[in-house]
Amino acid sequence: MSRSAHPAGPRHADVLPEGHYTAPAEDLNALDPKVWAHTVGRDADGVVTVGGIAVTQLAEEYGTPAYVLDEADFRDRARAWRTAFGNDADVFYAGKAFLSRAVVRWLHEEGLNLDVCSGGELATALSAGMPAERIAFHGNNKSPEEIERAVRAGVGRIVLDSFQEIVRVAHIAQSLGTRQRVQIRITVGVEAHTHEFIATAHEDQKFGIPLAGGQAAEAVRRALQLDGLEVIGIHSHIGSQIFDMSGFEVAAHRVVGLLKDIRDEHGVELPEIDLGGGLGIAYTSDDDPREPHEIAKALTEIVTRECEAARLATPRISVEPGRAIVGPTAFTLYEVGTVKPLEGLRTYVSVDGGMSDNIRTALYDAEYSVALASRTSDAEPMLVRVVGKHCESGDIVVKDAFLPGDLAPGDLIAVPATGAYCRSMASNYNHVLRPPVVAVRDGAARVIVRRETEDDLLRLDVG
Ligand code: LLP
Repeated sequence: MSRSAHPAGPRHADVLPEGHYTAPAEDLNALDPKVWAHTVGRDADGVVTVGGIAVTQLAEEYGTPAYVLDEADFRDRARAWRTAFGNDADVFYAGKAFLSRAVVRWLHEEGLNLDVCSGGELATALSAGMPAERIAFHGNNKSPEEIERAVRAGVGRIVLDSFQEIVRVAHIAQSLGTRQRVQIRITVGVEAHTHEFIATAHEDQKFGIPLAGGQAAEAVRRALQLDGLEVIGIHSHIGSQIFDMSGFEVAAHRVVGLLKDIRDEHGVELPEIDLGGGLGIAYTSDDDPREPHEIAKALTEIVTRECEAARLATPRISVEPGRAIVGPTAFTLYEVGTVKPLEGLRTYVSVDGGMSDNIRTALYDAEYSVALASRTSDAEPMLVRVVGKHCESGDIVVKDAFLPGDLAPGDLIAVPATGAYCRSMASNYNHVLRPPVVAVRDGAARVIVRRETEDDLLRLDVG
C-alpha cells in the first residue's frame, strides 16, 4: 500500500529464491526521521527514546504491546496544517484515523476542526469539549438517531451522502425547528493511485453521489428546495495514502465545474468546497510525502485558478487530513516472543500483538518498517517477517524487513508510523486485549486510552 518497494529488497520477495535479498546498505540502528515521530532518538545506551523517555521504561510501566504517541509531534503536525491553510480555510482532522478525548482537546487547542463519522466519534468529540459548530458529520449510512443527535448538538455541517439522506436530514432538521448546514458529497470519477479499498472517488462504490449523468446536480437541485437544509458547499474525498496531487487537481476542476453549473442554474454561489483528506505519509524510507505548506499552496492555487476561469468567487476551502497528522506520531512497541529461523527462507519473529492491533498489513498489503528498540546491535542483518500471536497465518505486522541477527526473546522492537488506522481499527480477535495508547511529552508519559482487560471482555459477554 505504501507505494514503495521495501528499501531492503524486492517487492515481490516471496516469489524470488533466496539470495535475491540484499542486506540493507543503511545502518540497522539508524532511525530515519521520515518514518519516526519527531522526538524519537536513541540514548547513550542505544535504547530508543521518545519525548525524553526510554522505551524500556515505557514497557516496564505500561507493558507491551503499546501504542506510544508523541504528543509534541501531534501538536506540531496539527499546527503545521492549520498554519499552512491560514485563516481563509478550515482543517478538519479526520477522527477515524485515531480519536480519543485527549486528541480532541489537542485539536481544539491547536485550532483545528473535527470530522466524525459515527455516533461514537460524535460522542467522544462532544464529551471532550469540541464546540459542535467545529464538527463535520460524515457517513454513508447515518442512522436517524445519529442525525438527530448531530442536529440537536448543532454540528457545523452534515455531509450528505445520498438522495435519501438529503430528505432524511431535511426532515429531521425541520421537525426540530432548525436549518442544518450541509455539504453534498460527490464522486468526481477520479482514479486515485492507491489500494482499491481506500480509493473513494471512482463511481462504482458506496460513497457520495456521482457527478456523472447529472446526479450530483440533481442532488443539489433537490437540497436547495428543502427548508430544513442550508447548502453550504460540495465535498469530494478521492481516497487515502495519496502522494500525487494530480487526482486533487482533477477533483477540484470537476467540483468547481459543478459550482459553476449551480450558479448558472440557480443563481447561487455556494461558499465552501471540501477536498477531503488522503495525503500520504512515509511508512518506509522510500516514501516521500509532501509538507502541509506545499499541499496547501497546491490546493489553493488549483481552486483559485479554476474559479477564476469559471468567474466564480473563490469559495472557502476545507481539508480533512487524518493519517497525515496522526500517522507518523506513534509507533507500536512489541516484545519479541519467539524467533524462528526457517532454513533457506526467512526468520519469523513473533511479537505479543499482531493483526488485532494492526490489521493494515493483512488488509491492504501495507508496508511498515521496524527497528530493534531496547538496544543497538552490530550483528549481521537477517531477513525477517514480524508476525503476531493470532491463529491465522496472514497475521503479519511487517512483511519483509531486516533486523539484527542476534535478535532474541525479550528484546523490544518498534514499528513506526502506526498512529493512524491501527488503534482505531483494532479488534479483539482471539480475545486478544487491545493495547493502550500512551502519550509522551517532555519527559512525562500518561495513558490516554487504557489497555483492555479480561474483565472488559467478560463484561460484554452477558450470556
Ligand atoms: N475525509 C473523508 C471523507 C474520509 O473518508 C477519510 C478517510 C478522510 C477524510 C481521512 O483520510 P486520511 O487523510 O486519513 O487518509 N483504513 C484505511 C483508510 C480509510 C480511510 C477512510 N476515509 C487505512 O488504514 O489506510
